[in-house]
Amino acid sequence: MAEEAITLPINNLTISDTVEEAEFSQRVLIRSILSRADAGAGLAGKSLKVGGWVKKGREQGKGSFAFLELNDGSCPANLQLIIYADVAPLGQVTATGTCLHVEGVLQMPPEDKQGKQSIELKVTKVLEVGSVDPAKYPLPKTRLTLEFLRDYVHLRPRTNTISAIARIRNALAYATHTFFQKHGFLYVHTPIITTSDCEGAGEMFQVTTLINDAEKVEKELIKNPPPSQEDVDLARSVVKEKGEVVAKLKSDKAGKPEITAAVAELTKAKENLSKVEERFKLKPGIPKKDGKIDYAQDFFARQAFLTVSGQLQVETFACALSSVYTFGPTFRAEHSHTSRHLAEFWMVEPEIAFADIEDDMKCAEAYVRFLCQWLLDNCLDDMEFMVEKFDKKAIERLKMVASTNFVRLSYTEAVAILEEAVAKGHKFENKVEWGIDLASEHEKYLTETKFESPVIVYNYPKGIKAFYMKVNPDKKTVAAMDVLVPKVGELIGGSQREENYEVIKERILEMGLPLEPYEWYLDLRRYGTVKHSGFGLGFERMILFATGIDNIRDVIPFPRYPGRADL
Ligand code: 4AD
Ligand code: MG
Repeated sequence: MAEEAITLPINNLTISDTVEEAEFSQRVLIRSILSRADAGAGLAGKSLKVGGWVKKGREQGKGSFAFLELNDGSCPANLQLIIYADVAPLGQVTATGTCLHVEGVLQMPPEDKQGKQSIELKVTKVLEVGSVDPAKYPLPKTRLTLEFLRDYVHLRPRTNTISAIARIRNALAYATHTFFQKHGFLYVHTPIITTSDCEGAGEMFQVTTLINDAEKVEKELIKNPPPSQEDVDLARSVVKEKGEVVAKLKSDKAGKPEITAAVAELTKAKENLSKVEERFKLKPGIPKKDGKIDYAQDFFARQAFLTVSGQLQVETFACALSSVYTFGPTFRAEHSHTSRHLAEFWMVEPEIAFADIEDDMKCAEAYVRFLCQWLLDNCLDDMEFMVEKFDKKAIERLKMVASTNFVRLSYTEAVAILEEAVAKGHKFENKVEWGIDLASEHEKYLTETKFESPVIVYNYPKGIKAFYMKVNPDKKTVAAMDVLVPKVGELIGGSQREENYEVIKERILEMGLPLEPYEWYLDLRRYGTVKHSGFGLGFERMILFATGIDNIRDVIPFPRYPGRADL
């Protein structure tokens, strides 16, 4: 922390004239200067260091000084620097993308030049420059499309949009932990590598070393051809021969040194034989048994995958510690090229013991509303940026969700509403009838057109939902619920879990899934079963909803989708 605080009354607000040093970094965060109620004015005269990247630089006064817009990622706003030619060669510091670490004095800009700037830093010393060749820098000043920026995932965090999204994403992660911790949930780390398919949809990425191993063997065999049957026979005969020598020496009662030498030769021959036999067995290609891939030879000695959801594993903790949640990356090998799907995305999955579908819906609603209010309270400057550049309604939408009770509809009621819309002439591409999986156009109709509010649809037909969902007394529907929100459609999918051993076993078989990988999951029902419920919130979908960004590929730092996994 800097010097002693002097408090200055400005517009009835009391504002300290101290400024917070960034911890563990040799600078003051630009946010701590510009986000003050006086926009930094009260800090005039103060000397400090800042560091950041030049957004825009322009030489003025016939090259005698330059104005630089510096951004350090701590907030959307830039700090204006004024630097004179006797402090540093201006040509080296004005290019967009240049990194600067400087020392200077904060000052009020001359009145006629104040414009947007409430305070500027007059640079007294340049400590470090990370220069940029403007002819080569891929991110020039001109406005770039988000699609173009996907080709530069390593540089795009330097843009206003991607950095604002990063701060919003960070805030939502913090809010998530705050919400669940505040409500007594325990954070559990579920595995990334798994041997059970949670959704049973067969959209898993396989984890195997069989392919690399096969490639290694192939390369090795080319460099070092395998021994032939004759080589093996020869090695065997050498062992036999050396064995006979040892036997003969022993029966002849030969001297100890002689026997020891012969035994050493025999051991060498045996070692050689086992090496030759081992290499003889090496076969190019993936190991097979009975015409099928032999996973017993794979890394985990069985088939393994990247998880599609941490739910099944987090249930083991819910069935012991009551309220838990997991928040981690999940993977789906869907060949979807939509603006709502990623191959790698993050999911927040609470799981609550002694809770039914009602409790689950309450929790989902409270959590989403908490997230919206959190952004309004903590990220307003970034949200204002989103409103200005991407979505006029983004803040309005957050306020609406934070303050509105979600509409609740059974699936049957939802289908009736959609049928009514069709009868009134509304055109959907996908047919509407009881039993369909709601398509994104149906979800949008409900949440954007019909109700203009978040909608929770519950009690879906069991035929379109996963095996673990609780079968309702009507035997036709399951206690599933999806939270649909404007702009995104499905944000959350959840359910009460089937806690009855017989029923869930039946469901696994009914869905054509093998029982063996789910035996441990069935144990949770065999021993001390408990009514429990949970849901999964697609974290990137939440960011899409909050920011109004159109494509999910732009709200995750490193997007993975069919054909693309940069870095
Ligand atoms: O509805 P889903 O498939 O539910 C589950 O995986 C449950 N096991 C969750 C649980 O009950 N613990 O996925 C949950 C949410 C969806 O509502 C959606 O927001 C998001 O995850 N999601 C995706 N987000 C981005 N890309 C994808 N490919 C997604 N698939 C699902
Ligand atoms: Mg779903």
